[in-house]
Amino acid sequence: MTTHLSTRVLTVDPSAPDPQIIAEAAAVIRAGGLVAFPTETVYGLGANALDEHAVARIFYAKGRPATDPIIAHIADVPHLDVLARDVPQVAYALARRFWPGPLTLVVWRRPVVPANLSAGRATVAVRVPDHLVALALIAAAGVPIAAPSANRFSRPSPTMAAHVLDDLAGRIDLVLDGGPTPVGVESSVVDLTVDPPVLLRPGGVTVGALLELLPGLTFAPRYLTAEDEAAPAPGMLLRHYAPNAPLIVVAGKREAALARIRADVLSAAGASRRVGVLAFDEDAPVLAGLPVQLVMLGSATDPEQVAHRLFAALREIERTGVDLILVRDPGEEGLSLAIRDRLVRAAEGRVIIAEP
Ligand code: TXA
Ligand code: MG
Repeated sequence: MTTHLSTRVLTVDPSAPDPQIIAEAAAVIRAGGLVAFPTETVYGLGANALDEHAVARIFYAKGRPATDPIIAHIADVPHLDVLARDVPQVAYALARRFWPGPLTLVVWRRPVVPANLSAGRATVAVRVPDHLVALALIAAAGVPIAAPSANRFSRPSPTMAAHVLDDLAGRIDLVLDGGPTPVGVESSVVDLTVDPPVLLRPGGVTVGALLELLPGLTFAPRYLTAEDEAAPAPGMLLRHYAPNAPLIVVAGKREAALARIRADVLSAAGASRRVGVLAFDEDAPVLAGLPVQLVMLGSATDPEQVAHRLFAALREIERTGVDLILVRDPGEEGLSLAIRDRLVRAAEGRVIIAEP
């Protein structure tokens, strides 16, 4: 396998994708190639989900451990039964409510799904993305499309085509540039093969919305370190989304957290360390005048906006070359739970609780 592909970029209108461009991309998929494409959450790195060799290329291009399974993207609900068996009734209810949309269901895998897609597990993760480019690509390819986020392993997920190129130029065949992805954090992943169902990853569909159809849903956020050998659940690696500078999440009441951030900025600056803060808009006045590189996340009261900006903000702040990044804990209300999850992973678990 070569890492010296010339990666083509084709611009596509996210609200009316040109069928000719989609047909070109679909041909690459059918030929076993790799195509990065926008979904409503983040860009995916797509390959024919039924082709073991194409799936193997995804792991190679990303540098992803073979132990971490990949989501199969389908264009409509009936294809769920092509990939999965013994699908519980609640899966169809969830699909009716949330598909197309940022919800991934883990169900029992049929033999047609290559084992490497599921990292050897008896299950398969499936979702219908809510993006016209993704849906058109799947339909034109005529096969389910395997797609993890289109970043190098442990880098922030890509929400723009430029992020994909930063990580994967020369390693994949094609990028469909459909502009920034609307949601900005990845899908919620729910395992329906266990009773009660388990939320494996908080994401674009909130826990509150899921509980309406899955009242027994449990969520045990387990973050495993890279050293944790016998990883029982995939995708729980703590070192995920990591920016190049260490990140620290500062939890606690807002005033206490801001006071702690101010103090840490001043002491780090005193030691000639350059500090960056991922800041909520309403916190900017408190941070004004500090020797700090600010990158704004939007308002803490608008988690949709924060989610939309989050991964781009992580990439932007690391490009400033700071030695340390601080961010205030966004809380866990609604979409903030997914935002916090990504931040804690980016921080490799470094959370400090500011005391008043
Ligand atoms: O929004 C998204 O889900 C994006 C877009 C491209 O669809 N995709 C994405 O893929 O985030 P990835 O590979 O970065 O994350 C997929 C998550 C991982 O945590 C993986 O461990 C989990 O889903 N997963 C996939 N298949 C699974 C399975 N069979 N059992 C348990 N977890 C699974
Ligand atoms: Mg990912």
